[in-house]
Order: sequence, then C-alpha cells, then structure tokens
Amino acid sequence: MISPKKYAKAAKIPPKGFKTSNDFFNYVFKDKEMIWMGQNTNHLHQDNKINDAMIDCVESREYCKYPPPEGFPELKDLVLNDLGLQDDFEILITAGGTESLYLCINNILEPENNMITCDPGYLIIDNFASRFADQVISVPIYHKECNYKLTPQLVKENMDENTKLISLIDPLNPLGSSYTKDEIKEFAKIAQENDIYLLHDITYRDFSREHHLVAKYAPEHTITIYSFSKIFGMAGLRIGGIIATPDVLNSVRSILINDLGTNVISQAGAIAALKSKQEWIDDIKNQTRKNQDIIKKAVDQVEGAFLPVYPSDGNMIAIDLKETGIDPQVMADYLIDKKIFIRQGAYTSKLFGDRYIRISFSVPEYQVKIFAEKFIEACDRLRPL
Ligand SMILES: Cc1ncc(COP(=O)(O)O)c(C=O)c1O
Repeated sequence: MISPKKYAKAAKIPPKGFKTSNDFFNYVFKDKEMIWMGQNTNHLHQDNKINDAMIDCVESREYCKYPPPEGFPELKDLVLNDLGLQDDFEILITAGGTESLYLCINNILEPENNMITCDPGYLIIDNFASRFADQVISVPIYHKECNYKLTPQLVKENMDENTKLISLIDPLNPLGSSYTKDEIKEFAKIAQENDIYLLHDITYRDFSREHHLVAKYAPEHTITIYSFSKIFGMAGLRIGGIIATPDVLNSVRSILINDLGTNVISQAGAIAALKSKQEWIDDIKNQTRKNQDIIKKAVDQVEGAFLPVYPSDGNMIAIDLKETGIDPQVMADYLIDKKIFIRQGAYTSKLFGDRYIRISFSVPEYQVKIFAEKFIEACDRLRPL
C-alpha cells in the first residue's frame, strides 16, 4: 500500500448525483447546451486563423515528430515580443501555465522555506507549494481595506526570514483585482531587497485595462507564468510558458518533466494566435466589458448581493451572496440544473468560500443575458424566508 503524501489534496467531493468529480466534468463537457461560465475559458473567438493553423498541422501529419523540446523558436520569440521582454529573458514552452507553475515552485522552494499566496486565489498554487515548502502562508485578502488583493504592505507583514517565493496572480482569479504600476514597483523592491522571488502569474493579463510586468523592474527576481488558455481561447490545447532570466531558467531545466516537448498542434495554434492577436483582441475585450456590465445590472437588482471588485480586470467576477443567505453551492447546483455552469466560492477559497460565486463572462452576450435572468430568478427562489 502506498501511503498518501503529507500534502495530499483533500479528495474532491463529487457534485450531487455524480460518482466522481471527473464524471461531473465529463457530464458538463459533453452537454452541448451547457453555458460555460465556470472555468474562465474564452468562447468568443470567431477568427479562423488559429483553427486553420492547427488543421494545416494535422493535415501535414507533422505531429508524427517530436518538437524541439523547449518550444519552436518562432513561438518563443512571439511570446517574448508579446511581453516586450526580448533582451535579457528566455522562455520555455510548457503544457500550460499549470506545468509552468509546478516547475517553478518545485525548482525554487527548499524544505525550510515558505511561500506567500492569498485567499481567495488559485488554490493549485498553494497545493504545489505545500509539496516543496515547509509552510504556505495564505494571506486573507477578501476585504475592502486591501482592495481585495495581496498588497505590498500585506506581503511585508506576513513574510519572514524563510520566505522565498511570493505568488502574484495578476489579475487575480477569482476576483479580478489587479495591480498599479506603483504596486508592481514596490513588489519588485521587496524581492530585490530580500533576495527572494516573485511568481508573476499573468494568465489573465490581456483582459485588464492596464498591466505591468514585475519582470521589467526586478528581472533577476521574477518568474513570469504565461498561458494560452484564456485570451487566446485555447484551454483544451494545454499550452503556456515560463519566462525568466537565463540563470533561473537553467535551474528549471534541471527538473523538467516534459522532456520531449509540448504538443505540436497546440504550438501551431499558438503561433497563429500571437500573429493574429491585434486583429481580434479589441473585439474580445470590448465584449467582455459589455458582458460584465450585464452581470452588474443583474446583481444590482438583488438585495444583499454585491460585486466585491468592479470592474474586474479578468474575464471572471465574484458575486458576494452572504447577505442574501443563499449558500453558493446551492446557487451553483440550481444554475447547473438550468444548464449554466458557474463556480461556488469554495473552489478558490478555503476561508471565504461560503460568501461568493465566481462567474466567467468571456462567453457570447446572449448566454450572459440568460445567466443574468436565471441568477435573479434563483435569488428569488433560494433566498431563505
Ligand atoms: C491564475 C491561474 N493560473 C494558471 C491557470 C492554469 O492555466 P493553464 O490552463 O495554462 O494551465 C489558471 C486556470 O484557471 C489560473 O486561474
């Protein structure tokens, strides 16, 4: 018998009616009518260049070959250009931001270290950190006073001599909060002065109104995590990257898993996605702005419900339900029965999961309108008397 690791994730509780959580996902995935507002994925692409590039790749059967293990140079250059980080940086293409996060956390943390994260946040980061560090310091940030984000001040208050890594998810999943240039510079200073690292997860960067890279201010102390899952609409293709200085990346190279490289078809799609980005990005951003306004109007009609962060700089938003008396899980179950997939707060918070639901809004406008209508209806029906 193999005993579970000390960091083993609590077994996922399958949603009602399902034997496993995987069965639930298979059910929602296969249901063609399901409105997909539960995973911050992007369903707004109409441009065919990404599809066409992948179809060409399939037809050429080039996928019979292994790709260059760190990614096609064309794709690597396109990502670095996209970020304006050409000169002193290198990139490793990975099977998504998730693999990138794992590799960096594994590489940087020693058993005596701690890592600072925040709650709410992207809990997979906490889980990865718990495998390699002595402690994960998850700072509660679901408060007006800190603008619902991990501020430089909070980091200073929570760090100690064993802190080695700070997770900055920017914009933040699930709340959509993001950082000003001054805050980013402050984080850079903290990292440099203490000789520690910032893990800058920019998965949602392109949805934001403005965005600043810590790598520009503290290049030697920053690892930037890049994903093709959100703005590029390629979540199922599993592709992303790690951007860092050569020193840091050399160290990551020593613990690689995917030694034979990342999916060739995904890389063909990613090249086309970056080359065509300027043609579609404004349309997608405008639609997501419009969609979150529809959600805001619906929430404003519900007594006791509010948006902690508005506007969100991501493609998701949290709706606080605490004062309505409605359990977020009950709301999620109600909406799934109406074929709308959203997330209860517990998916992204250990401390505040009973307060909010998270809605992803990079879906067609008519679907957001259906959500808005059903949300108001749900609040009427589920509110305790
Ligand atoms: C903050 C954050 N980082 C990384 C990821 C995962 O990205 P990928 O699909 O590229 O693995 C997600 C997915 O939702 C996320 O929210």
